[in-house]
Amino acid sequence: MTVHIGAKPGDIAETVLMPGDPYRAKWAAETFLKDAVCVNQVRGMLGFTGTWNGRKVTIQGSGMGMPSLSIYANELIRDYGAQTLIRIGSCGGMQDDVAVRDVILAMTASTVSTPSRGIFRELSFAPCADYGLLAAAATAAKDLGVRTHVGGIYSSDVFYDERPDLAAEMERHGVLGVEMEAAELYILAARYKRRALAVLTVSDHLKTHEALPSEDRERSFGDMVEIALRAAFA
Ligand code: HPA
Repeated sequence: MTVHIGAKPGDIAETVLMPGDPYRAKWAAETFLKDAVCVNQVRGMLGFTGTWNGRKVTIQGSGMGMPSLSIYANELIRDYGAQTLIRIGSCGGMQDDVAVRDVILAMTASTVSTPSRGIFRELSFAPCADYGLLAAAATAAKDLGVRTHVGGIYSSDVFYDERPDLAAEMERHGVLGVEMEAAELYILAARYKRRALAVLTVSDHLKTHEALPSEDRERSFGDMVEIALRAAFA
């Protein structure tokens, strides 16, 4: 048990998928894992462990934003020995050729700040995905026929953004989408020599204001979970 995770030692797999939403963790575990059991209920941040194709997998909610993700990722890595951490979440599309329902594999995650900002001081550290996971996810997405983009994303501290100029600069520099967690996950993975990737479904678009209809959400999020699982065990 840790401060925020009630699981017993051994209840957490080396491979952990991390959706922001704890109810999405429940849905993904019930949909994709065999013999899934709930291993965490502390603060309602549900976590489940089961098997996928005979491999042990945990799906643990991270909450929204980097401070919340940092708590769960730190405890999963430092106390439970998680080796592979894959964020599965939604993002806002930022480029014209990125459409709602597309999947983005986040090669890098630019930020203004993360909970690790204080460590780096004047250094502009470049958080990046594990290359092996990224390449395997790209292959899985292709095999599944999912429209996928690989490139940089932006991990923001705010959903209600008051800096349209910053979003414009991101767009001008080819950033594919915006979410709120990946950069800190990548930094923690770098610090502790673990593997990390963010597989993101475009749920809305900053320019077109299109949004994924609720009836399409399950199908689209399912593609993302399948890509993450295949990548983890490629
Ligand atoms: N901003 C930040 N995070 C997000 C968004 C967004 O527009 N869409 C989905 N996650």
